[in-house]
Amino acid sequence: MSNIRKNRPHIRNCALMLLSTMTLASVGAGALPAAAKTNSDQLDPDKKAAQVIAEMTQDERYALLHSIMPIAFGPEPLPEAVQGQPAMAGYVPPISRLGIPAITQTDASLGVTNPFQARKGDVATALPSGLALASSFNPELAYESGKMVGNEARAKGFNVLLGGGMNLARDPRNGRNFEYLGEDPLLAGTLGGNAVRGTQSEGVVSTVKHFAINDQETNRNTLNSVIDEAALRMSDLLAFEIGIEIGQPGSVMCAYNRVNGPWACGSDMLLNQVLKKDWGYKGWVMSDWGAVHDVDYAIMGLDQQAGAQLDKEIWFDGPLKTKVAKGEISQDRISDMSQRILRSLYAVGADRPLTRTDIDYDAHGKVALKTAEQGIVLLKNNGILPLAASARNILVVGGHADAGVMSGGGSSQVTPVGGPAAMIPVGGEGFLASFGKMLIMPSSPLAALKEQLPEANIQFDSGYFPNATAQAAKHADMVIIFATQWQIEALDAGSMALPQGQDDLIAAVAAANPNSVVVLETGNPVHMPWANDVGAIMEAWYPGQRGGEAIANVLTGKVNPSGRLPISFPVDESQLPRPEIPGLGGPSDAKFDVDYNIEGADVGYRWYAREGITPAYPFGYGLSYTSFTHDNFKVAAKGDGLNASFTVRNTGKIAGADVPQIYLADAAGTPMRRLAAFDRVELAPGEARTVTVPLEWRVIADWANDGWEVAPGTYRFVLATDALANGVSASVKLKAHHIAK
Ligand code: BGC
Repeated sequence: MSNIRKNRPHIRNCALMLLSTMTLASVGAGALPAAAKTNSDQLDPDKKAAQVIAEMTQDERYALLHSIMPIAFGPEPLPEAVQGQPAMAGYVPPISRLGIPAITQTDASLGVTNPFQARKGDVATALPSGLALASSFNPELAYESGKMVGNEARAKGFNVLLGGGMNLARDPRNGRNFEYLGEDPLLAGTLGGNAVRGTQSEGVVSTVKHFAINDQETNRNTLNSVIDEAALRMSDLLAFEIGIEIGQPGSVMCAYNRVNGPWACGSDMLLNQVLKKDWGYKGWVMSDWGAVHDVDYAIMGLDQQAGAQLDKEIWFDGPLKTKVAKGEISQDRISDMSQRILRSLYAVGADRPLTRTDIDYDAHGKVALKTAEQGIVLLKNNGILPLAASARNILVVGGHADAGVMSGGGSSQVTPVGGPAAMIPVGGEGFLASFGKMLIMPSSPLAALKEQLPEANIQFDSGYFPNATAQAAKHADMVIIFATQWQIEALDAGSMALPQGQDDLIAAVAAANPNSVVVLETGNPVHMPWANDVGAIMEAWYPGQRGGEAIANVLTGKVNPSGRLPISFPVDESQLPRPEIPGLGGPSDAKFDVDYNIEGADVGYRWYAREGITPAYPFGYGLSYTSFTHDNFKVAAKGDGLNASFTVRNTGKIAGADVPQIYLADAAGTPMRRLAAFDRVELAPGEARTVTVPLEWRVIADWANDGWEVAPGTYRFVLATDALANGVSASVKLKAHHIAK
C-alpha cells in the first residue's frame, strides 16, 4: 500500500475546501467572511499569552483555572470573588494590572440564556433548536446564527459562549438532541464549526461540547460510554474534528460521562492524545459543570474547572497548588493551562473591553425567523398544502397554538424577546422543580395564520376534549393540529410516543376530517401511528421566538419548505440499536456501561442501511412545493481530493431550495451509506445550476492503523434526496492510501 502522507494542513484544507465550494455554489463568494482578527495589538496570541504569563504571580495563574457560577444554590454564601456579579454560568475575576478581563461564561447555542431568569427582565433572541438549524443544511445560516448570539453575548457583558453542542444523536429519545445538530458527523461538524466561527467573529470565545460521546441524558453523570477507537474516531470524534477545524473554538467543554473507563474530563486519551496531540488543539479544555471528580484531571488534559462550586472540591485551587508543591504536577503544566486560556482570549479578541451596547433585536429576530423557516421539514403532503386560498373554515387544534410555540428546557433555555408567552410547570421534584417549566415562545401560529388569511374563518380548539374537537373538525374545510413534545436537559424521553394523549387526539380528528395537517413541535423524532390518516405532516421542531410566523409562512406557501431531516425517524423503538434506554427509571447514581459498539460508527441512517431496516422517514428526507431533478453526476479526482459535480434543476412552477446529498454507497465492494458532501441550492422556477462539491476523505476512508485508510477499489457514490434513496450513481477507482491522523 502506498503511504501518501497527508499532514494536518491537508486535512484542514479538505474541510475548508468543502466549506468554500459550498459557499460559492449556494450563497456567493465571500458570504462566510474569515473570522475577524480582533486581537487588539495584532501580536501573535501565543506569544502575547506567554509574555503575560511570565508577568503573572502564581496566584494569578491559578485564579484563571476555575470559574464559579454566581448563583447560590444553598445557604452557603458565594465566594467573595463572584459576589455582586449578575447570574451567569461561570465567572473568573479580572487581573486588571495585566489587562486580563474577567472571564464571563454564558450559555449557549440557541441564544444568550438568563439562568432561572435571575437577571430580572433580561431577554435575548431565542433561536430555533439545533435540530431546526441542522435541518437547513446551511452552513452560512449556522454562521449567521452563531454571529448573532455572539453579538448579543458581548453586548450583555459575556466573552465566552458555551455553544457549539455537537454530540451525535445516537438515540432519538436523548433529552438534549434538540440542542445538537443531528446524527451525521459531517453535517454536525460543518454546521457546528460555522456557528462557532460566527460567534468568535464577534470577539466572543465559543466552546464546542460535550467532548465526547455524552449521547444520552439518563445517568449522564455515572454511565460509561463503551466504544472502540475506530468507531469513535469515525463518528462522534469526527464531528468534533471537523467542527474544530472549521470553527477554531477557543475552548472545548468535556462531558459528564465516562468514556471507555475514565471520566471524559479526566481522559488522557480524549484530551491529551486525540485533542491536543493528534489534532494539535491549542485552546483550553473546560469541564462541564460538576464534571470534575479529581485534581489529577489536570494531568489528563483538563485546563479549567468550570462551575467549580458544583464539584465536591474546587480542585483547581488549593488541591492543585498542593500537588504542584509536592512535585506531583509540574509547574510547566500550570503555565500551559493558563497559556491555553489566555491565548484563546487573545486569538478571538475576547480580551477587548466589554462595553454594553444596544442590540438590534429586529435584525436578530429575522435570523430567528429565517432559521425557523429553513428548518421546517415537510414530511408528508397529499396535496393539501400549501393551504388553498379557498379554505374558508379552518380549525386550529392544540399545542398551545393560540399562545405560541414550544421550546426546550435546561441550561440552553432562552428567555425570549417579548418575554415568555407562558411558563407551564410540569411538576416533579429536585431538578424538575427548579427547571421544569415549559416555556412557550411568544409567537402564536394561530395569530399568524389569521393575519395571513384575513378572509378565512379560523377557530381554535385546545384539543382538551378530543371527542368535542373531532365533532368540530367535521364542520371545518381543513384542520391544523399542533402536537408538542417538550424535552429538557438531564432527562430523556422515556418513549418516542407523543405525550399526553396527543396521538388519540390526532387519530380522532383525522377520522373526522381527512383534510388534517399535523404540525409537530418536538425535540426529537416521534411515533406517528396516524401518519396514513392525515393529509400532511410538518416537523417544525422548536422553532424559536418567531416560530409561529415561520409555520404560518410555510403552511400558506409564502415560504417554500426546504428543510431536510438531520435525524432519522424510526418507525418505533424496536428499530433502534438499543430499544430500551440503558438505565431508564433506575437510580440516578447507578453505574453501568452503554455499549455503543452495537452500531459503532454507524449512527442513525448508517445503522438502518447496514441492518436493512426501513425507518418511517430517513435522514435527509424532506419535501418541497416544487420539484427538482439531478443530472450529469460525476465524481473525479482533483489534486489530492475528490470532487463531485452535478446539475440541479427546479422543474416546478415556484422558487425553492433543494438539498442535494452525496452518499458513499459502495466502498470497494462493501455496501454502505455515508454522507460525503451536501449543498443547499436556491433555484427559480425552471432554473438549473451545475454545482461542484468536494467529498470528505474521512467519510470515504476507515480509521485503521492509526490513521485514515482508503482501501483500493471502486467507490460508488449516489446523489440522492435522502440517505436511503436510490438516487443517481457515479463511480471512481481509488488507489490504496493512508492519510495520517
Ligand atoms: C450543561 C452545559 C452547560 C453548563 C453551564 C451543564 O449542565 O451540560 O451544557 O454549558 O451546564 O450552564
